[in-house]
Amino acid sequence: MEAKSAVDLSWDEFDELRDPRPAENDFDRVVEAAISRRGLLGGVLAFGSGAMAFGLGAMGSAGSARAQAATFPFQPIDIATDFDIHLPEGYRWTPLVRWGQALFSEAEGAWSPESGVPVAMSDKVFGENTDGMELFVIDGKEVIAVNSEYVNPKINLPAASEGVPQTADEVTLLKNMQGVTVMEVADGGNGYEVVVDSPFNRRITHETPMTMDGAAAGADLVRTKADPEGMSPKGTTNNCGAGKTLWGTYLTCEENFNGLFGATGEMPQGEGYGRYGIGGESQYAYEKFDPRFDISSEPNEPHRHGWITEIDPADPSSTPVKHTALGRFKHENAEMVQAADGRIVVYMGDDERGEFIYRYVSNGTWAEGHPTDGLLSDGTLYVAKFNDDQTGEWLALTPETTGMAPAEMLVFARMAGSKVGATTMDRPEWISCHPQRAEAYCSLTNNSNRGIKANAGGDATPVGGPNPREANEYGQIVRWRPEGEDHGATAFTWDLYVMAGNPAVHSDAYAGSPNINQGNMFNSPDGMAFDTTGLLWIQTDGDDSNEGDFAGQGNNQMLIGNADTGEIARFLTAPNGAEVTGLCWSADRRVAFVGIQHPGGSWPDGEGKPRSSVIAVWREDGATIG
Ligand code: FEO
Ligand code: CA
Ligand code: CA
Repeated sequence: MEAKSAVDLSWDEFDELRDPRPAENDFDRVVEAAISRRGLLGGVLAFGSGAMAFGLGAMGSAGSARAQAATFPFQPIDIATDFDIHLPEGYRWTPLVRWGQALFSEAEGAWSPESGVPVAMSDKVFGENTDGMELFVIDGKEVIAVNSEYVNPKINLPAASEGVPQTADEVTLLKNMQGVTVMEVADGGNGYEVVVDSPFNRRITHETPMTMDGAAAGADLVRTKADPEGMSPKGTTNNCGAGKTLWGTYLTCEENFNGLFGATGEMPQGEGYGRYGIGGESQYAYEKFDPRFDISSEPNEPHRHGWITEIDPADPSSTPVKHTALGRFKHENAEMVQAADGRIVVYMGDDERGEFIYRYVSNGTWAEGHPTDGLLSDGTLYVAKFNDDQTGEWLALTPETTGMAPAEMLVFARMAGSKVGATTMDRPEWISCHPQRAEAYCSLTNNSNRGIKANAGGDATPVGGPNPREANEYGQIVRWRPEGEDHGATAFTWDLYVMAGNPAVHSDAYAGSPNINQGNMFNSPDGMAFDTTGLLWIQTDGDDSNEGDFAGQGNNQMLIGNADTGEIARFLTAPNGAEVTGLCWSADRRVAFVGIQHPGGSWPDGEGKPRSSVIAVWREDGATIG
C-alpha cells in the first residue's frame, strides 16, 4: 500500500494495516469452478416458482436500460458519470437537509461554503455523511431519525491541517458532525422541509450520555476509569445502517468504531484488539486530545462501541440504550421481525471481509401494546452457517457452545462466532425482510480477500456457497427462507437473488447472474429496504470510476428489484463520488427520502464544499412510490 495518511484510508485499507495479506496465498486460487452461470441459475430456479422468470429473454442483454422489462412503474434510466442526481421521467427530487443545515434557529446562517460549520454550532446542525434513517409518526408529526456515519476531516477542518485535528475544539467539531440527528419534517405545500426548533429535534453525538443492558452491561470488560460501574457509556459512534423496532423506536448501528481509538503510550494486550482492527494509530487523532479514546489509558473504552443502540425519537430527553445482547461487531443495520410465536427476531450483518451474519431471538414475546422490557436484553444471539447445498442453520452462541463467559461472548461476538464455525461472508451489509412472506435478503457488498486471505480471526474464506467468487469485486445479494416460514426457526434454505457483475467485460461468473445485463449492471450492493409493495430498493457503494472492470457502470445508484421475477431496474443515479445510503418514506408513501453520502464536486449547491444530504424524491403526478 502506498503511504497514505490514516485519514485517507478506506475501511478496508485501514483494516489491512492491522492485518496485512500474507505474501503467499493460503488457498487454492480456483475461480471458475466455484459457480458457473448455469450453476447459479440452477440454484435460483430451485428456490421457487416465482424465480422461473429469471434469465428470460425479456430481461435481455441489450445495451440500454430502456430495453428492460416493464414490471416497474417507471422507465429505467441509463448510467451517469456527472455530479448530479438523475431519476426516471415523471419523478422529481429536492434536497431535504444538507450537512451543516440548522436544526435550531440559533444555528441558522452558521454554515459557510468555504469553512463549513463553526464548532460552537456543531451540535445544533445536521451532521455529515448521512446514512441509515427511519421515519416515525409521533402525535401526528413526521419525525426522521438519521445517522451521520463518519466525518471527512479534510472537508470540516481548515485546509492547513490536512485533515488532522490540531486542537481539542477541532476534535469536538469532528465528534459533533457524527452520531444521530432526530428532526421533525413537514410538507407545508412546497415540499418537505426540516421544522427548525421542533421540540423533537435532537443531536446525539460522541458525547451523549447512554446506558447499557444485557449480559455485558456492567461487566469488567466495559468498565473504565471514567465509568467504574460500566453502565454509563458516552456516545454512539460510526452509525451506519438503522432499524425500527415494532414499538416505534430507532435502532442505530455502530460500525467502523475501531478507527476512533489510538494509543499515546503502550498498546494494551488482548486478543480482541486484533480481531476488531484496533491498533496503536487512529484515523482521527482523538486520543491526542481526549484520553477516553487513548487505549493506553482506557483499554476498555473500545468495548463500549460496536453495539446496537436504541433511541426513543418521541422523547428528546430519553437516554439511549446500548443493547449488548445483540453482540458487538461492525454493525450494518438491524432488521426486526417477529417469530411465529411472537418472539422478537433481529437480523444483523457484520461488515468486514470474512465476518458473519447474526440473528438475535428474544426469550420474551411481544404484541401491540404490551411492555417491551427485556426484549432486547434477554435472548440468544446466533450466527449463520450456510451449507453449499443451499441449506443453512443458525448456530447459538452460548457459554456451552463457545466456552466463553456470557459478557465475553457478547463483547467478542466475532470470536464466539468463529468458535462455533460460522460461515465467513463477503462483507454483510444491510438485511431486509420481505413484507409479505418470511424471506430475508442480505447484501454482500464485495470482498477483495475472498479465497485469498483468512479473516482477522484466522477463519478461512473458501470460495463457495453464497460467496462464490474469488477476490469478489462486484458483490451479491443472498436471501434465505426460514423453515416453516417462521423467523424463529433454526434451519433455512438460501439462494442468491443476484450476483452483480459486468457482462460487458466478463463472460464468466464475473459477468454476474442472468438477471444482470449491460442495461442494469452495478457493483457493491449495500443499503437495501423493501417497500410496502414488496419491491426491493437496492443502493450501491462501490467503484464509480466507470473504468476497467467497472466500465459502463457509472456512478453509484439505486435500483429496484422484483423479488418474484428477479428483474432489477435502475431508478436513481448519484453524483460522482457519492454512495447512495439510507432510505425511508413519508407517512403517505408519496415521498421517498434517500441519503446521498460523500458526494464529489460541489453537490448539491453548485459551489463550495460538497454536502452530504438527504433528498426527497416524488412523482410529479402525486402517486405513491413505495
Ligand atoms: Fe457503513 Fe458497511 O457500510
Ligand atoms: Ca453501508
Ligand atoms: Ca459499503
